[in-house]
Amino acid sequence: MNACIRAVVRTAIYHKIEIYGVKRGFEGMIEGDIHRMNSNSVANIIQRGGTILKTARSKEFMTEEGRKKAAGNLRKLGIEGLVCIGGNGSFTGALKLHEEYGIPCIGAPGTIDNDLYGTDYTIGFDTAVNTALDAIDRIRDTADSHNRTFFVEVMGRDAGFIALQVALSGGAEAVFVPEVSNRKDWIDKLFSKKRRKKSFSIIIVAEGEEEGGAMVLAQKVKEKYPDIDPRVSILGHIQRGGSPSSFDRVLATRLGAGAVEALLAGETNKACGIVNSKLQLTPFSEAIFKTKDLPEDLLRLIKILNV
Ligand code: F6P
Repeated sequence: MNACIRAVVRTAIYHKIEIYGVKRGFEGMIEGDIHRMNSNSVANIIQRGGTILKTARSKEFMTEEGRKKAAGNLRKLGIEGLVCIGGNGSFTGALKLHEEYGIPCIGAPGTIDNDLYGTDYTIGFDTAVNTALDAIDRIRDTADSHNRTFFVEVMGRDAGFIALQVALSGGAEAVFVPEVSNRKDWIDKLFSKKRRKKSFSIIIVAEGEEEGGAMVLAQKVKEKYPDIDPRVSILGHIQRGGSPSSFDRVLATRLGAGAVEALLAGETNKACGIVNSKLQLTPFSEAIFKTKDLPEDLLRLIKILNV
């Protein structure tokens, strides 16, 4: 997100526009925690994880009163356009701000979950995947040495993009994602004696999958096959931090600059995304409500590669 903030600030300055940073998202907007930024404000941040502006989930912004205060604070400073970095919730807030107070808004998709329609990748996804993959490679050493089965749970909320990407790149035996349900007989398919004899296996589980996550799956395996002694590793918030990958920095830079230039071109209520390597704008109504499909071909490859 810092690379995106940097791009927004410097693109605005390049186009001779005054630029402000809103601290703690909509929460800070309501409290008037809004500060003038210059080129130096975003120096030496491109390599840093997190966000220098900080973020918050704001309940008050969901109320009419909260949004009125927020819009009033923007108006006081003469702010004529907003770049909103975030996911579905942030875009919904931005849309409301435009509908109710006419403030033009462009979104830059930022979430590790990669579940936003209108962009092939969201800011943070690649870094989260690489962090999870590094952990999985390490877990693999123990799995191999002890001939063990590991269930590794990754984030993603209701989506399986992180799980699928790390499963394929981490050489996992199987992946459990929320998008694929009703996996009957999965235990037998994975652990029956008929299967190729494997000394160890890594199974990736998306936190939102239907059976209840890695702990539940491992417990079910233990009950049915007592000779298998599975281990569970829940990677958790380490996936959300750390220095961003080169891919994420470039993506965030393109989206931030693209968002400012879209506002300058008179656009509003759209999310800036990268589709087939090209910058593209998608109406908030689609970005928020349409579902991005999990790539079926990658799911199929996991099956093929586990012959
Ligand atoms: O949406 C991003 C995400 O990291 C999800 O993958 C995860 O489920 C959630 O946020 C965690 O949120 P919190 O930090 O509020 O627990």
